[in-house]
Amino acid sequence: MAPAGPVDAEYLREIEKARRDLRALISSNRCAPIMLRLAWHDAGTYDAKTRTGGPNGSIRNPQELSHEANRGLKIAVDFCEEVKAKHPKITYADLYQLAGIVAVEVTGGPSIDFVPGRKDSIESPKEGRLPDAKQGPSHLRDVFYRMGLSDRDIVVLSGAHTLGKAHKERSGFEGPWTKDPLKFDNSYFKELLAGESEGLLKLPTDKALIEDPQFRRYVELYAKSEDAFFADYAASHKKLSELGYTPS
Ligand code: HEM
Repeated sequence: MAPAGPVDAEYLREIEKARRDLRALISSNRCAPIMLRLAWHDAGTYDAKTRTGGPNGSIRNPQELSHEANRGLKIAVDFCEEVKAKHPKITYADLYQLAGIVAVEVTGGPSIDFVPGRKDSIESPKEGRLPDAKQGPSHLRDVFYRMGLSDRDIVVLSGAHTLGKAHKERSGFEGPWTKDPLKFDNSYFKELLAGESEGLLKLPTDKALIEDPQFRRYVELYAKSEDAFFADYAASHKKLSELGYTPS
């Protein structure tokens, strides 16, 4: 992706207006989880070697949206379209990442620094860059290392599963990870350590985080300290939202 160009004062004003519109839209539709998932799936295709994929808005392409991993995300793309219609200057790439950051904020999570200036792309990567929930630690490392992210990033970003639920018709899995799926807190890590709990979901990739000793030490840290989770989450989410682009 081309480096971000400088954004002018007018663009920044539009970003602030879009931020307010997103807050209202996400709160009234209770759609924080799927908006966060959209931001992650646009960004999570990044390949550091070829500098392709990443947070470039390409997920809006029907072809990419129809990838199996993206099932259900049309709902979030359409919500973002309402905001795009009011602020057409804002790129899809910026809008989707802003939506993810606002989703974390309105559900009580940490504030995440947002630097605008992402360029849109219409080139979609080949299917298969996002993680497969049925696999284990080495697969998680393959996928996240490809993005240029670390073990700590893998564990802390998985904490986003404190929000939302799986839907049988989308992923084949069903149920929420935590008892309050609209509250962003460290309960995902507490539930992981507590083991199976009636009505709560643990994907094989969630369980991988307690099976692998390198991952597990972060799970234990974040279950114990919500402050540590929030601080590390904000830093890792910012990295995810800026893969492949250098803010100006
Ligand atoms: C939901 C897999 C990492 C945010 C889901 C679902 C699966 C999944 C299978 C259920 C989708 C559905 O049926 O609706 C994975 C795997 C990951 C991963 C294998 C690898 C570590 C992440 C990351 C984030 C994230 C890094 C954000 C930073 C979410 C959210 C939902 C979700 C918020 C709930 C969506 C909703 O309620 O509609 N994930 N995920 N996930 N994921 Fe992940």
